[in-house]
Amino acid sequence: MRSLFKLLEKIKIFIITQIIVPNKAILKPIYNTLYIPIHRFYRRRKQILLGTGNSLTYIITGFLRKKTTSIFVKNTISQNDPRIDTLRKDGFVRLQDFYDPKIIQKIYARWAELRKNDELVNVAGNYKFLTEQVPDLFPEIFDLVKKPELHELMHNYYNCPFLFCGITIGSTFPISDEEIKKQGSYSMVWHFDVHPSDFIHFLVPLTDVTEKDGPTFCNPKGRTRELLKKGYYRRENYSLSIEEIEHHHHMKKITASAGDAIIFAPVSCLHRASVPSENHGRNMIFMSFRAGLEPHYVQSLSPFQKLGYKIAWSLTEDWVNPSQFVNKNITTT
Ligand SMILES: [Fe+2]
Repeated sequence: MRSLFKLLEKIKIFIITQIIVPNKAILKPIYNTLYIPIHRFYRRRKQILLGTGNSLTYIITGFLRKKTTSIFVKNTISQNDPRIDTLRKDGFVRLQDFYDPKIIQKIYARWAELRKNDELVNVAGNYKFLTEQVPDLFPEIFDLVKKPELHELMHNYYNCPFLFCGITIGSTFPISDEEIKKQGSYSMVWHFDVHPSDFIHFLVPLTDVTEKDGPTFCNPKGRTRELLKKGYYRRENYSLSIEEIEHHHHMKKITASAGDAIIFAPVSCLHRASVPSENHGRNMIFMSFRAGLEPHYVQSLSPFQKLGYKIAWSLTEDWVNPSQFVNKNITTT
């Protein structure tokens, strides 16, 4: 699967750099009159069939990761949990009062100081964030990450162990419409995240996220499928009115209080970022998970099993890989 990704990527880059870019002026009318309608027809049917904007390769990769992980463990957690039922049905669920507000306040107080340091933090438009340094600068986050209930919930959702594949702490600030136009609005348009289907976000608000604080706007899984059937095309060109996509009966604004957590499947739900009102902002930790086994667990397998897992791993690897938490003893098995 990994070599297939690489080959497809190489072909795509070759076509773009060698054929499309040098001949842009000649190709544009052909692109608009021939390619777009054909691509739209193909994409729409594919999306209706798959129920998501993501490709079949990513759906198969996500499925295989879960299957090839579960065969290497003796027990998997499979309990009835209404929260997991909601997550599977809607693509997101809010876990009320999940964390001790004191830990959340402590993390936020340090982040509020650190984010003033422009040499330390990354800035993308109206978003200030930190990634690689998070485990070292915020040791309290290990208390969040190691919470047994989180492990039970996620293991139950996946039906197999899982891996942390990233953590970000960040703040979103107000931004004017003019600035949005100038800088582009990649996350503020309706889209799916491009990842294998087992990829999921675990969000931890550090302060309350009200409607004024720039909550994520999201269409639940069922409504997302409806929008695909109605003709949603893609990020750059919805082919649907904004009133339809943001219909007040269906669209949800993911609000929460500090101390809550939200599990969210950005590959299955159409969603977009929103802009905080003046004097408001969204402060949040993003953790990302995928199905998989911790390195120390893989080491404990028999040589034959180890080889099997490594082959399965290399076949289903994508560009999001566990990094920050490797060898930090975050036990999920
Ligand atoms: Fe997204």
